[in-house]
Amino acid sequence: MPIASGSNANAPAKFVRLFKDENLWVRPYAPGGQSRKAYHPLIATCKNRVAQTFGSVLPPLNGGIILDAGCSMGLTTCELADLYPHCKVVGIDVKEDVLGWARFHGKDKLEAGQIAFLQADGYQLGRSFSYSVRFSAIFFMNNLLYRVRHLQGPEIKDILDQTRPFLQENGYLLLSGVDYLILKKDDCKSGFVKVASNKPPDSQPRLLNSLYPIYACLGLA
Ligand SMILES: C[S@@+](CC[C@H](N)C(=O)[O-])C[C@H]1O[C@@H](n2cnc3c(N)ncnc32)[C@H](O)[C@@H]1O
Repeated sequence: MPIASGSNANAPAKFVRLFKDENLWVRPYAPGGQSRKAYHPLIATCKNRVAQTFGSVLPPLNGGIILDAGCSMGLTTCELADLYPHCKVVGIDVKEDVLGWARFHGKDKLEAGQIAFLQADGYQLGRSFSYSVRFSAIFFMNNLLYRVRHLQGPEIKDILDQTRPFLQENGYLLLSGVDYLILKKDDCKSGFVKVASNKPPDSQPRLLNSLYPIYACLGLA
């Protein structure tokens, strides 16, 4: 199934348009690059996951495009579209088979042009998205945080460095697993400032703080 349709003479070569009325260009998924140990393999998801995870600390967003990285069957993507009705939401997953379910669950919102799904790697956004794309928020829910303990500091830094250019200034990066962390893009300091979390950097024991490798990588520990 084609991931998107449309054409425009000004589009970069090999890119296609994802939304009809937004200048969001993407190109077909090509596996490779990032080490496989970064990928959380399970696809389990559930309804109301976003609100139940972040609750009252969800940031206000009044427009722009949200990326749901590792959307699985699209339940979080649809929930984000409900929580942020003035935003468009793109759900991506490395696994094409779950995206069939995502398109089924999000049928109405897809037809209304509020959401879109795409096979893409959230850890290497530059392989799929044009570098002109800026998201107002990027959610990594129940994937990256389950793998950070298996990754070296430079590997985590590489994922964050590849993600950051795709956030608009003051855009949010939201990570969740057992714990959650909300970061805001900032040109000062390490490039991100902490907005909210359920575990501060000094929470002990460190082994039970799944956020610690991220804090350490950003120099926030
Ligand atoms: C446990 S599910 C989480 C689904 C949903 N985000 C939630 O929180 O309910 C994890 C999903 O992340 C996907 N995933 C893992 N690494 C990914 C990556 N680098 N880019 C895109 N998807 C990824 C997996 O294929 C899987 O479908």
